[in-house]
Amino acid sequence: MDSRLTTGQPGNPLQAWDAADRALLAAVDATCSALAVVGERWGALVVPLADRVRSVLIDSAAGRAALTRNLTTCEASVTDQLRFGDVSEEPDSLGDLASPEPARWPCGHDGVLMRASPSVALFDWQLSRLGELAPVGAPVWIAALANQWSNGHERCVASRLGASRLGASVRSRGVGKARVVQRTIQMALDVPTPWTTIPGPTGFALASVPGVFCHGRIDPGARSLLAALPSQMAGQRVVDLGCGNGVMGVEAAARGAAAVIFTDDSLRALAAARRTWLLARQSGATARFAHADAGAGLPAGEADLVICNPPFHQDRAQTLHIVDAMLLASRRLLRRGGQLVMVGNRHLHHESRATSVLSGVKIIHDDGRFSVLRARR
Ligand SMILES: C[S@@+](CC[C@H](N)C(=O)[O-])C[C@H]1O[C@@H](n2cnc3c(N)ncnc32)[C@H](O)[C@@H]1O
Repeated sequence: MDSRLTTGQPGNPLQAWDAADRALLAAVDATCSALAVVGERWGALVVPLADRVRSVLIDSAAGRAALTRNLTTCEASVTDQLRFGDVSEEPDSLGDLASPEPARWPCGHDGVLMRASPSVALFDWQLSRLGELAPVGAPVWIAALANQWSNGHERCVASRLGASRLGASVRSRGVGKARVVQRTIQMALDVPTPWTTIPGPTGFALASVPGVFCHGRIDPGARSLLAALPSQMAGQRVVDLGCGNGVMGVEAAARGAAAVIFTDDSLRALAAARRTWLLARQSGATARFAHADAGAGLPAGEADLVICNPPFHQDRAQTLHIVDAMLLASRRLLRRGGQLVMVGNRHLHHESRATSVLSGVKIIHDDGRFSVLRARR
């Protein structure tokens, strides 16, 4: 693997490739010349195969940025046809919600490389759509880290692509084990709608889709954050940073906010937030949806309030680099005197990290498990 590949995220403990990437690269057939890559992370698959990859399905804004940078750094000979196929549709109207047909994935490939999502529900949905990428009979190689591959994944492969034993484990030096399996694309029986709706904690319905944080349920940290939000936000410009299903931004609008920016690294999360927004019909506020790594590219110095429930994991690794990135983003996005309200597991002490970035840091809510801080720019 090219040692110049990076995630491009300061403090990210993850390497830009792992055993599953290596397993796929070792397995892929040299005769395929128009590949689709599903579930790419930082470019570890696309960069070495750049002259044979036509489409890459990648959910993360940070992943897209890293892929683009890595293609240049590694001097990859990119096909001029490389496309990003978006994993989720972004409905524009309530009409779209009534019939949530996913947007079509790009077609015309002769093979598919796929990193299996740890979410079995997302994996199954993606498997059900492989026939959009390549014709029946085309080869598909699927890989996952062995500790992220479950019986549920195995059952999905058996039902969508035909039963057979898993491929052999492939040990990759120093980076653990991966599972890789090869099948051929089968006729799709059905494409189940991935969307569900759950009752939100304050009366709004929340749209949910596999692969989005806390799919189908409400995060207890989000409940604590909601309890600590100002009861009135009349006329405020609010950023829902790491919006997930949009629960915070919709609540801000219900409490009087004039404008809400929903932003998340995940395209799927944004699609869920947009659905939540459309369902809630908060016509008194404007909404914008931004696919970005920690709010990158959003206007600086304009927000009155940033609301944030930051992740402290990437894959299975605990890491606080995204918390730090979101604190820095809050400082950039807030107007002078504007406020951040952020929740975290109590033992992680986000308040001590916030102190070096913002002023007036104060814990305003503590339920024993989660604490919520307020800070000022
Ligand atoms: C703990 S969830 C919170 C979701 C929602 N706000 C809630 O309270 O239920 C964290 C969210 O941050 C998003 N996220 C992770 N890394 C990010 C990044 N670098 N930039 C922006 N969003 C990110 C995740 O996709 C996820 O939706």
